[in-house]
Parts: sequence; C-alpha cells; structure tokens
Amino acid sequence: MTNPVQGTYVPTVTVTPPSGAARPRLTFIGVGYLGATYAICYAELGYEVLAVDVDPKRVEDLSAGQMPFHEPGLDELLKRNLAAGRLRFTTSYQEAADFGDVHFICVGTPQRSDGMGADLRYVESAIAPLAPHLTRKALIVGKSTVPVGTAEWVEHLVEKYADPSLGIEVAWSPEFLQEGYAADDVMRPNRIVWAAKTEWATAMLHAAHKGVFDLASTEDREVPVVATDFATAELVKVAANAFLATKISFINAMAEVCEVAGGDVTHLARALGFDPRIGNRFLQSGVGFGGGCLPKDIRAFQARAQELGAGEALRFLHEVGQVRICPGRGSRCSVRRSSPTPTTCGTLRRWRWRGCWPRPGPTCTSTTHRARTTRAGCTRSWRTTSLWPRRSRTPSWCAY
Ligand SMILES: NC(=O)c1ccc[n+]([C@@H]2O[C@H](COP(=O)([O-])OP(=O)(O)OC[C@H]3O[C@@H](n4cnc5c(N)ncnc54)[C@H](O)[C@@H]3O)[C@@H](O)[C@H]2O)c1
Repeated sequence: MTNPVQGTYVPTVTVTPPSGAARPRLTFIGVGYLGATYAICYAELGYEVLAVDVDPKRVEDLSAGQMPFHEPGLDELLKRNLAAGRLRFTTSYQEAADFGDVHFICVGTPQRSDGMGADLRYVESAIAPLAPHLTRKALIVGKSTVPVGTAEWVEHLVEKYADPSLGIEVAWSPEFLQEGYAADDVMRPNRIVWAAKTEWATAMLHAAHKGVFDLASTEDREVPVVATDFATAELVKVAANAFLATKISFINAMAEVCEVAGGDVTHLARALGFDPRIGNRFLQSGVGFGGGCLPKDIRAFQARAQELGAGEALRFLHEVGQVRICPGRGSRCSVRRSSPTPTTCGTLRRWRWRGCWPRPGPTCTSTTHRARTTRAGCTRSWRTTSLWPRRSRTPSWCAY
C-alpha cells in the first residue's frame, strides 16, 4: 500500500482526527524513559498530550514537574508544557480513551524470566484496559521494542477487547532514541519508520508526526520516512541493535588481538573510523555493550528467530554477546580470559580485565562515564558508570 519513501513524507490523503481537534490528540501509555520523553517532546512540538502510567507515584511526580530520570533539557520542557496546559499525566484509561486520537504504546518489554524471549505481558496490560473504553475510531501505535509478529498479535487483542464497529486500527513505529540525547532524538530523529495497513492509518501517523516534519522544515532539514509493513518495522529496531552490539563486540575483539600482537586498539579504531563505510561511532573498546535495552533485545531477537526457524542465521549474535564483560547481573562474565568478578567501589562499579583496574580519570563523572586506567603499560580506554544499571546514569554507548 505504501512504498518506502526517501525524504520527508507527503501524505496522499488528509484526515480529520476523530476527536474533532485540529491536530490529533496523543496519548503515551507507559511513561518510562521512552514514553515520558515522547510525551514531553510532543507537547513541546505543539500537540495536546495525555500520558498514562499504572504507577501513581510516577504520574504524581511528573504532574508536579519532577522528572523520574535525568535527561538533558527534559526538566525544563516538562515544566514549560505542564504550565502551557498541553501536557497532562494520569492513571486513568477511561480518560485516555476519551481524550486520544492516537495512542502510543510505550510500555517495557523486558526479558522473560523463563527464557531469552521478550515478555509481552505489559503490552497486553496496556491494550486490555484501553480498548474497551474506546468509543470512537482511534489509532493504536506500538513503539515498544518487540519480537516480529507482535503487531499482528496486538491487532487480535484489539479485536478481542474493543467494539468492532469502531474500526480501531493498529500501526507500528519503532523508536531509536539514545539516552543522553533523547529529547533531540525524538524531536529531530534521523529517520522515522512506520507501518500501517490503510491510508487512514498512514495519514493519522503523518498527522501525529507533523510537528517533527514542521520543525525539520524550519531548520532546513528533511526527516526520511520509511513506510513499510509490520514485520519490517518490528525487525528494523532489533536489527539496528544487533548491528550496534556487533560493532561494539568487534572492536573489543580487536582489542584482544592488539594486546597479544602489541598493537594499539585506540589507533586501530581511529584509523578504521575514518572509513565512511565503517564510521567511528560505537568503535571504542571498553567493557562491552550493556544497558537496559541492547542485551535483552539481542536475546529476544535470537529467541524469536529460533521460533521462526531462522535461529541459525543469528548464531553469530551468540558470539557477539560473549565479547563483553558481565555488568554483575548474575550471569558469568564471559570476556575471554577476564576476571569474572565485577566489584563495586563506592558508587563506582569496576571491572577487572587482565589485571587492569578501570579507575575514574579526570573525565570520569557520573554523567560522562569515561575513565582510563592509570596502571603503567595499560593504554586501554575504559568506560565506567556509577549506579549501573540505573537508567538515569546509563552511558550513551549502551543506550539503545
Ligand atoms: N529506554 C530507551 O532508551 C529505549 C529506546 C528505544 C526503545 N525502547 C523500548 O521502549 C520500551 C519502553 O522502554 P522504557 O525504557 O521506557 O521502559 P521503562 O521500564 O522505563 O518504562 C515502562 C513504563 O511502563 C509502565 N507500564 C507498565 N505497564 C503499564 C500499563 N499496563 N499501562 C501503563 N503503563 C504501564 C511502567 O510503570 C513504566 O513506567 C521498551 O520496549 C524498550 O525496549 C527504549
């Protein structure tokens, strides 16, 4: 129905939001890192926004202008948009259903406790209470990172819980924001990927993102839109994370080879990074990838590929996962020949690798997360973070 489009998307039809408002009213369901950032930034872009969470404390704090995590610029945007009346927070699904034209699902999709796959219970726990309260047509857009096939499953949930005569539609639009740059990534994304099955849904998606396109045109930029099918939209996100994890593990593997061969991995990485086909981002050796998303997304990707009979194609991701140091979440540190014991020192978590202790250097603060060992003879650069795995301090290199 829709072809992938390079450059800013031009809709083929225009739609009136079912609420009758001039611009679609947006709800964001789940106001964790993703949902809160989106709710605040889309209010800043001029939309009327209602954000929903099951956690009353979170809703209370955000309503009072208190951010639950640190993200540059968001405090100020939160306060400004609360004061302007464009942004509200609630625990009420009834209120969300009455208010919204487009409902973005932003709940967590952690790893299942009984395997590597993604736990989708929060997705269902968002659809099940929302859908029965809907009384007019609306678009439900998945933003959470999910296994391929989830959007179709969400359609079935909507069929099960919503009044079929309303014609509620489902779309999917994965998110690529990086913690540390989240506000800018949301308002100035380097691309938007979406999947919708009808022209109405595509036009609603366009209307719900128009603020981003308008901002881009005032800044003489374009936001490429890739309009695709459900499966591809779901896969783009996990494929991007798999690629980034591979890049990080690749340079860490090179660090090991450099060490035994007497090479310098920082020079190697720099030299590689000048090649535009390779690029220099995510190409610094360190403790490996971690954070709240990359590891669980890589595992869920492998688990889903296995279910679909394509597990062999992603076998390399198992190896990618081995080239990193365990951040102390229970699994054994699997960096080759490294100490398996992460230790903590005050607020700094430290890793031991080949006898080098990462120590906080002059540039290592709780927000820059960077340190170099000072031990003579060790030139490897280290990244450390205080309070890992708390999201607010997750370093940007593992922030997908
Ligand atoms: N954090 C990131 O940088 C990032 C980037 C891209 C994609 N993602 C993906 O976005 C999703 C959300 O990530 P996050 O980091 O914001 O998660 P999070 O755990 O920080 O937040 C999830 C929020 O959802 C709420 N919630 C759970 N069930 C709910 C329900 N039924 N109704 C309303 N609220 C509910 C929780 O109370 C919590 O506040 C995940 O799939 C993640 O992989 C995250």
